[in-house]
Amino acid sequence: MRLSGLFAAAVLAAAFPAAAQDAARGRALAAQHQCTACHGENGRSAMEGIPSLAGQLADFTTIQMILFREGLRQVPPMNQAAAGMADKDIEDLAAYFASLPPGPPEDRSPRDPALFARGEALIGPRNCGVCHLPDFRGRNQVPRLTGQREDFLAETLKAYRDGRRAGVDTQMNGAVVGLSDAEMEALAHYLAHLE
Ligand code: HEC
Ligand code: HEC
Repeated sequence: MRLSGLFAAAVLAAAFPAAAQDAARGRALAAQHQCTACHGENGRSAMEGIPSLAGQLADFTTIQMILFREGLRQVPPMNQAAAGMADKDIEDLAAYFASLPPGPPEDRSPRDPALFARGEALIGPRNCGVCHLPDFRGRNQVPRLTGQREDFLAETLKAYRDGRRAGVDTQMNGAVVGLSDAEMEALAHYLAHLE
């Protein structure tokens, strides 16, 4: 899905607010809205298919919440959670989750050296590190990938490829063109096991 230039400008304006964000207020909002019931008490998800938010970049989280709120990224529980939420609340929630230390989930699978190597071999030719940075800690609206759940990474890559996940632009849809399920699972395994 391609968003209009006007909408993209509105998203960017919301993502780079002049006012300071308040992580302490975001913490209270996270409890009130029960974000942590799904995303984990410390922002590290223990549930399959649900991403960790700890250490995620605030600009990325803010933009994704706006996409959920506007129904542009379709995930029913998240469209519901973000419905009618004020920009300031979204920014404070994003600041709170960005302030939590990232790390792997407790139920991370052991590292499979062959699968890890297959993923590593795909990363360079696909230029993944050019946007996500070579250590995959992300930058601005390009998300951190280290510490993320492997099942979520594999599933969301397939969603971009199959047109089930829309972002602010089509960069990610382009980045995964032609990748097979097995290649995406190898990429997810590699990224989930980076320290
Ligand atoms: C009922 C469970 C549930 C609740 C409550 C919930 N989420 Fe989510 N959240 C999800 C699921 C499921 C996904 C993503 C699934 C997907 O893309 O397939 C998600 C995705 C997200 C993402 C996108 C992260 C990424 O890496 O792509 C953000 C940001 C997010 N949630 C923030 C929040 C915030 C903030 C709250 C509280 C206001 C919240 N969520 C409440 C289930 C929940
Ligand atoms: C041209 C820049 C660019 C390249 C190349 C790129 N990405 Fe991304 N990636 C992005 C942006 C921007 C987003 C956020 C898009 C959105 O709004 O959904 C993203 C999102 C993601 C997400 C979603 C994470 C989350 O928490 O929701 C994953 C996983 C991901 N990229 C993996 C990869 C992999 C693996 C590669 C290489 C095959 C790659 N990316 C190449 C820019 C890029």
